[in-house]
Amino acid sequence: MPRTQVAIVGAGPAGLLLAQLLHLRGIDSVVLERHTRSYVEARIRAGVLEQGSVDLLTKAGLADRLHRERLVHHGLELLFDGVGHHVPLTELAGRELTIYGQHELVTDLVAARLDTGRPLLFEAPAVGIDGLDTDSPVVHYVHNGRTEELHCDFVAGCDGFHGVSRPAAAGLTRYEYEYPYAWLGVLAEVAPSAEELIYASHDRGFALHSMRSPTLTRLYLQVSPDASVSAWPDERVWAELRTRLDRTSGFELADGPIVDKAVTALRSFVVEPMRYRRLFLAGDAAHIVPATGAKGLNLAVVDVAVLASALTRWFADGDAAGLESYSDTCLARVWRVQHFSWWMTSMLHRAPDADPFTRRLQLSQLRYLTSSAAAATSFAENYVGLPFPEGAQ
Ligand code: FAD
Ligand code: PHB
Repeated sequence: MPRTQVAIVGAGPAGLLLAQLLHLRGIDSVVLERHTRSYVEARIRAGVLEQGSVDLLTKAGLADRLHRERLVHHGLELLFDGVGHHVPLTELAGRELTIYGQHELVTDLVAARLDTGRPLLFEAPAVGIDGLDTDSPVVHYVHNGRTEELHCDFVAGCDGFHGVSRPAAAGLTRYEYEYPYAWLGVLAEVAPSAEELIYASHDRGFALHSMRSPTLTRLYLQVSPDASVSAWPDERVWAELRTRLDRTSGFELADGPIVDKAVTALRSFVVEPMRYRRLFLAGDAAHIVPATGAKGLNLAVVDVAVLASALTRWFADGDAAGLESYSDTCLARVWRVQHFSWWMTSMLHRAPDADPFTRRLQLSQLRYLTSSAAAATSFAENYVGLPFPEGAQ
């Protein structure tokens, strides 16, 4: 494999979008992905994109199908005490939200990358990174049964939480918190039962009604962290969703065939800095937020937008200022989003050891949020996404 300017480890949203942003600026990269193309294109994960993320994808020419197929949302519902409360997000914070499956976005990004003719290798796991102290790091990877070397100017570690990039960096500080509950997510072939997302706080635990299209509903239930899919047959899932999404009047949850079911841990995690010499970490490789705030994918988009600009300045005229400030620029936003995601998670979930005092605090917070314009505006501003940092384009 010839030398490249940027070795990108991981073909999730972060790695694929970075590759495309670099390509648009004439910068060469090689993308290495551990899994097959069909695996990454079918992996069901995020669904909510901030307007800032959509604007960036649109500017990069990556959002044609997204604009044709997305659902645009202007509000959401908070459900507690059997009553739903509409939060008019766009009215309060001036931006809209897009519902478009992450796997659809990954499918579009893979197609765009292949169209450029630049390398994207599937079933090519990176197994180690060397030479980070030099001007020419080397990524070792396996492809077609052979171990290969990829020499480069920079490595972009976009390989998610379980990747090899972060362990290759020395001197990082980890900050983390594991929640005493997880999410069981299902995708069902049935029309959504409501027009908006419903975040429900119930005495039995959290539930979320979301969607992917007019014919696909995405639903989540708070479960115990050691829950297994086998303990949740479809009938149990629907019965529990009905209980937690129930309200005093006017809501019927439609069910249908469940085509995907998985348990996801909820975790808050950050490493500082998001850089080690010529290795730059982006997306889930550097930070994880609990999915409650719908922010992980959107954070990954901002990271790679900042990184693409910084690398462009460096390759254009050797200006390292953007690379030097990359970590601080990203971390400022990451910590705001960490707080919001933790706060929203804590407000809506039922901790296993929760006492009646804590429950009353949660309900008080929810009542305040749905009755005070100031509180609702603060929530909306965070949920729709804060403006992108300067230098992210
Ligand atoms: P990943 O998507 O994890 O991609 C990393 C890639 O690197 C993978 O393809 C992996 O196979 C590859 N890789 C790993 N190791 C190696 C290796 N050694 N060599 C080569 N390749 C490797 N976020 C939102 O913004 N909105 C939401 O609504 C939302 N909902 C979510 C719901 C659920 C159930 C979950 C689980 C997550 C949700 N998220 C949401 C978070 C979002 O899915 C992630 O933040 C996002 O996938 C991060 O993208 P990434 O590219 O950084 O990492
Ligand atoms: C989703 O549709 O997958 C989704 C929506 C909202 C969240 C998390 C996930 O907060």
